[in-house]
Amino acid sequence: MKEDLILVFGAGGNIGGKIADELLAAGANVGVVGRSRARLQKFEGKAEIWAGDFMDDAFLREAFWSARSLFLTVPDECFADPAAAARRLEELISESNITHVVNISNSIIKKGGSATRLVAFEQELNKIAGINLKHLRSANFFENLNWGLHTPYRPELKLPYISSYEVAHVAAQYLYQQNFEGKSVDVLLGTRDYSMAELAAAAGEVYKQQPYTDQNIGFYKPFNEGDFEVEPRTIQNTSKLTDNRFSLEYFLERDLQLNP
Ligand SMILES: NC(=O)c1ccc[n+]([C@@H]2O[C@H](COP(=O)([O-])OP(=O)(O)OC[C@H]3O[C@@H](n4cnc5c(N)ncnc54)[C@H](OP(=O)(O)O)[C@@H]3O)[C@@H](O)[C@H]2O)c1
Repeated sequence: MKEDLILVFGAGGNIGGKIADELLAAGANVGVVGRSRARLQKFEGKAEIWAGDFMDDAFLREAFWSARSLFLTVPDECFADPAAAARRLEELISESNITHVVNISNSIIKKGGSATRLVAFEQELNKIAGINLKHLRSANFFENLNWGLHTPYRPELKLPYISSYEVAHVAAQYLYQQNFEGKSVDVLLGTRDYSMAELAAAAGEVYKQQPYTDQNIGFYKPFNEGDFEVEPRTIQNTSKLTDNRFSLEYFLERDLQLNP
């Protein structure tokens, strides 16, 4: 057991993978968590591999036991009953030595008249006594463009976007330095807001707004009708672009996956 282990959930995916990379580069003891061992393979020999399901109590208890801090991203199943998911985490964390948790959240704080699910989940997590908890209310990741450059969003609707490298960098710093106390929120809005028309043009395409489907109308319509609230942009929560990887151009050059 390494007592200073930092456990990174979702390490086989986008943000968790980048956090684990940053922490390993800084020389931290890292445990990477995900269901698919294959997706965690790249950390073999560098980090502790914890292949298992977040929803499995015994697995989580064992993984938590060796950790001092953790990066939290929860699977969709948790949002069916956020209070129950948070109480379950509370119990498991209380049996562990975990003191610091960084939780990924969302800069879109309300939609359709209600708190968005990650922001509502923050409130449930805040009830966990005795841990230091940092919520990172992140703008949309540039990676969302890989779901499709042409969407039902109105062409001119502007939303904040950010590089997941930048979010990962902030999360990794907090996890490594453990320099936060109590329950707090950081807002990360990237350098500016973008419309889909601008993002498609930056990727060399003319934006074609798509019709709603039965599956996505609930997601897109409140945005298009202005029925949402985003964290207000300030100097403090606007990125200063200290690293080339944090720019839209870097994403477009290296990580954009256009469907043929
Ligand atoms: N996209 C945005 O614009 C945005 C903005 C703000 C916040 N966020 C939040 O950021 C989170 C992470 O985003 P991302 O882009 O890193 O997602 P991602 O690439 O899909 O990664 C999620 C990871 O979670 C793991 N996972 C899923 N279910 C699991 C389970 N039951 N047990 C254990 N591991 C599980 C998956 O690995 P396995 O399949 O191998 O288990 C996957 O690697 C999102 O879920 C969202 O809540 C996103």
